[in-house]
Amino acid sequence: MQEVRKAVLPVAGWGTRFLPATKAMPKEMFPIIDKPVIQFIVEELLGAGVENVIFVTGKHKRPIEHHFDINTDLEKHLEEAGKEKILQNIRKISHMINPIYIRQKQQLGLGHAVLTAEPAVGREPFIVALGDIILERGEEAITGMLDIFSRFGKSVVALFEVPEEEVSKYGIAKVKEIEEGVFLIEDLVEKPSPEEAPSNLAIVGRYIFTPAIFEKLKITKPGKGGEIQLTDAMKLLLEEEAIYAYKVENRVYDTGNPLDYLKTVFEFALKREDIGEELAFFLAQMLSKGTQLTDRT
Ligand code: UTP
Repeated sequence: MQEVRKAVLPVAGWGTRFLPATKAMPKEMFPIIDKPVIQFIVEELLGAGVENVIFVTGKHKRPIEHHFDINTDLEKHLEEAGKEKILQNIRKISHMINPIYIRQKQQLGLGHAVLTAEPAVGREPFIVALGDIILERGEEAITGMLDIFSRFGKSVVALFEVPEEEVSKYGIAKVKEIEEGVFLIEDLVEKPSPEEAPSNLAIVGRYIFTPAIFEKLKITKPGKGGEIQLTDAMKLLLEEEAIYAYKVENRVYDTGNPLDYLKTVFEFALKREDIGEELAFFLAQMLSKGTQLTDRT
């Protein structure tokens, strides 16, 4: 069986839920305090031993390329300023990966973005990791998915449990458990109402696909929102091949909309040794004054 060596990171979307901030700045570069979201995802993949990263990018996404490139001027400045620790960190990021960037010329949806990566992926299995979703201890989740792939040789998606009232935000799976934490997908429904939802297991933004997904994406018609949906192509794949699922118990952070992004930033910041305590004190003070209720804009 072929090894999974490559990961596709679709980062070409408009980020409309975050406009105007995303007009010139990719949401995937938004900081979780001082580290951009996309770096967490790259580190997760590296932690699971996957080094070949293919970004599906767009014309307003150049900062992502700069982030993983060498910045000699900055390195020189840090060296001269004697900021050795930051310098080491900056150098580490520049050498983390040897990325491939492919342009998605029109933002026709996530499915289309994945299809755009076909020339760089070729006929081999590959990971897809969404550029705005961070997983707590993500390398564990990817390693778990890779284990399932190595046993069955078929596509694997990560699932996580969501509250019933939130199923309409996600792709939801109908599943059959074949052993603890490992499932076979029976059906998929994109953003169902709670009544229509076959379960509360949502697709979380991490996938391993066999290359057969490309053939399905080529014949997938535009679906919800006029976009070529990855879920629709997966439904076509299901008619032909089994798709396995792995339930992720770790926390999932969606950074693609303002409220969940803020929750992520606060959760990470409160855990930080250097700023957590002071931030907690500040927040407690704000809340005790009732600022959040009186000063709304
Ligand atoms: P999202 O739906 O979260 O991203 O897609 P979006 O379309 O940028 O966001 P909104 O809905 O307009 O606010 C998940 C991931 O897929 C990428 C996005 O960049 C994001 O990381 N994507 C989406 C593409 O690469 N191309 C697309 O055509 C659509």
